[in-house]
Amino acid sequence: MMVETPTTAKGSHADAVATASVVALAFSINGRHCAVETVATAMLLDVIRDQLGLTGTKKGCDLGACGACTVLADGRRVKSCLALAASYDGADITTIEGIGTPDRLHPLQAAFIRHDALQCGYCTPGQILSGIALLAEKPKDIAAIREGMSGNLCRCGAYPNIVAAIAEVAGL
Ligand code: FES
Ligand code: FES
Repeated sequence: MMVETPTTAKGSHADAVATASVVALAFSINGRHCAVETVATAMLLDVIRDQLGLTGTKKGCDLGACGACTVLADGRRVKSCLALAASYDGADITTIEGIGTPDRLHPLQAAFIRHDALQCGYCTPGQILSGIALLAEKPKDIAAIREGMSGNLCRCGAYPNIVAAIAEVAGL
């Protein structure tokens, strides 16, 4: 009778666990269908940046505190560093790469330039995505813009200009 050695048995178990922890996901990213296989614990930010190569979405704190990683999922803003990718299977994801092009900027991108609403630019993709979602909520005044953007930090302190850019597009 053959007896499996402990080493082989352990290896088989590890392989089984590794196989079980891989999930197949399908998203729409910026209007394109995209299928990925990833570990079940992968965060949406890491799938977007490392597997899909869309590095416009930034990793700042990786703790849900700064908003640099903000993307839209089915039109709602999501801090992708805290979002389990598997929870967004089938979702319609928008990143900064899907917002505008150098030749055809989104109105909010153009307003950011007009108002000089950035310095280093690291927070800007998240600010733009968050601002677009906020505009869809139709903020009624400047205070509502400040409140609505409070989840997006800017270490360069461009807040007054960011608020001014969003206010212009909101018609306030
Ligand atoms: S990187 Fe996600 S909130 Fe800071
Ligand atoms: S422009 Fe530098 S962190 Fe916002």
